[in-house]
Amino acid sequence: MAYETLLVETRGRVGLVTLNRPQALNALNSTLVAELNRALDGFEADPGVGCVLITGSEKAFAAGADIKEMSGLNFPQTYLDDFITAWDRVSQRRKPIVAAVAGFALGGGCELAMMCDIILAADNARFGQPEIKLGVMPGAGGTQRLTRIVGKAKAMELCLTGRMMDAQEAERSGLVSRVIPAAELMAEAMKTAETIASMSLPIAMMTKESVNRAYETTLAEGIRFERRVFHAMFATADQKEGMQAFVEKRPAGFQNR
Ligand code: CAA
Repeated sequence: MAYETLLVETRGRVGLVTLNRPQALNALNSTLVAELNRALDGFEADPGVGCVLITGSEKAFAAGADIKEMSGLNFPQTYLDDFITAWDRVSQRRKPIVAAVAGFALGGGCELAMMCDIILAADNARFGQPEIKLGVMPGAGGTQRLTRIVGKAKAMELCLTGRMMDAQEAERSGLVSRVIPAAELMAEAMKTAETIASMSLPIAMMTKESVNRAYETTLAEGIRFERRVFHAMFATADQKEGMQAFVEKRPAGFQNR
C-alpha cells in the first residue's frame, strides 16, 4: 500500500513507521495523520506485529501540526470537521508503541510522542509546546498529557513561554525514558521494540492497558483493575509457558495466546 508521507515496514515482529515529510520537518498535515492511522490499523490487525516503533528524521521527529494547512481554518470548520480528533486514535492503540525522537518534537510532534507508550530520545532531541507563539495553545493533548507527565510548573512554563527543553531536561522531567547518542538511537530503539515484541502479545497489551489505567482512575480502582487482569493472565498459555520455562532454566517460547 503506497504512502505519501510515511515509510512503513515490518522488521521481524516490529512495525516501523518513519515520518517522511523532510521538506516540512515532518509537520503533521491531515494526509500524514490519516496515513499514520492507516499504518497503525494494519499493525494492530497483524498478529505478526508485537510492537510498533514510530520515528522521524535526524533533524525532526515532527515540528508540529502543519501551520500552513491550519492557518486559513475558521472555528466552524475546525468544529464541524472535529479537527485533531483523528490524532487521538494513536493514543487508543492497544499494542505497545515506542517513539524514537531525534531533533525537534514540537507542538503536535511532542503531543504525538506523548501519545506513544515509551519515548526514547536522541541527545539532540528538543521538546516543546510553542503553540502560544502562533496565537493558539496545544490542541492534541499537550496541556493535559504534558502536565500529568512533568507536573504543573514545568508544563505551564513550556506552554506559556514556548521554551524548548533539551533531551537531558526531558529525561530529568520524566518525559523520556532514556537519552541515547543520536547515532545509536535507531539501533537502541529497535532493540527495545524487539524486546517488547518478543514477549507474549496479549500479556504486553494487558500490561499497557493496566499502566495507562493509572492516569485515568483512583489508586484503589487502579489496583483493583490490576489485580483482576493479573488473575486473568493465569488463564493464558503464555503464563504456563513463561513460568515453566523459568523452572526448566530455558528461554520462554510464547505462543501469544
Ligand atoms: N508546519 C508547517 N511547516 C513547517 C513547520 C510546521 N509546524 N515547521 C517547519 N516547517 C517548514 C518551514 O516552514 C520550512 O519550510 P520552507 O523551507 O518551505 O520555508 C521548513 O519546514 C524548514 O523549517 P525552518 O526553515 O523553519 O527550519 P529551522 O531549522 O530554521 O527551524 C524550527 C526549525 C525551530 C522547528 C521551526 O521550523 C519552527 O519553529 N517550526 C514551527 C514549530 C511550531 O510552532 N510547532 C507548533 C505547530 S502548532 C501545533 O502543533 C498545534 C497542535 O497542538 C496540534
